Amino acid sequence: MLVDGVTKIYNEETPQALLALDDISMRVDQGEVVALLGPSGCGKSTLLKMIGGLYPATGGRILVDGVPVTEPGELTGMMFQKPVLFPWLKVVDNVLLPVRTHGAKRSEFLDRANDLIALAGLQGFEQRYPWELSGGMQQRVAICRMLMGEPKVLLLDEPFGALDEMTREYMDLELRRIIIQQNRSALLVTHNPLEAAFIGDRVVVMTPRPGKIAGEVAVPLGKDRSEDLLASDELNVYIREARSLLELAKDSMGRPL
Ligand SMILES: Nc1ncnc2c1ncn2[C@@H]1O[C@H](COP(=O)(O)OP(=O)(O)O)[C@@H](O)[C@H]1O
Ligand SMILES: [Mg+2]
Repeated sequence: MLVDGVTKIYNEETPQALLALDDISMRVDQGEVVALLGPSGCGKSTLLKMIGGLYPATGGRILVDGVPVTEPGELTGMMFQKPVLFPWLKVVDNVLLPVRTHGAKRSEFLDRANDLIALAGLQGFEQRYPWELSGGMQQRVAICRMLMGEPKVLLLDEPFGALDEMTREYMDLELRRIIIQQNRSALLVTHNPLEAAFIGDRVVVMTPRPGKIAGEVAVPLGKDRSEDLLASDELNVYIREARSLLELAKDSMGRPL
């Protein structure tokens, strides 16, 4: 996935015109998890929605798998803070939704859905309804559904922001494991430096008004990660690096040019 010189102006040509993103360039390679870290309002969701084809960019270009993004398509999968599950559908039917909407026959996809459900640690819950599951389990269902469409790039907008800290850290690891096992790539939005360094192979730091890239921190802590990392000095080095990029950017805000 390549974002090349992308700009976004909301309400262009009106008095409310707002430069939300200014000349953003970044890439996510196959098999890579990149965390997009920045304070509220810096344009993280805007960028993700443009990569997902939900909004057009005002300038620049976005390529997924070498193809310019013009509308939502099968190459990207999106997930938000609140799992959007249908309460009247069982877990397995929620997971099957992307293929059902493409008109394919259910039975052809049932094996794949069940494999994904097992991979996400939800075996035995196939016939339950979403409201019978915990928040973390509901997010696992949303991950399975996102993977059902076989996207190249997963776009995750603060996916575990509504979960408690311990569950979030556990889900971060689970998500990394699933992404790597499936050889996909992911761009995950967070405003938490610890989560960014814990889950990301790289952390891209953004600053607000207008949204710009402040810098990047590589996190060479290996593909397989465990909860032990959370208390490690190693991880702390990268958390501090990411934090200081955020702070530097804040300091430069509001200064006269
Ligand atoms: N649909 C929209 N119309 C106008 N302005 C918007 C819209 N969506 C977001 N914005 C503005 O764009 C900026 C970036 O928002 P957003 O992408 O949601 O940031 P983040 O996800 O980092 O919190 C904010 O100033 C926000 O108010
Ligand atoms: Mg947002």
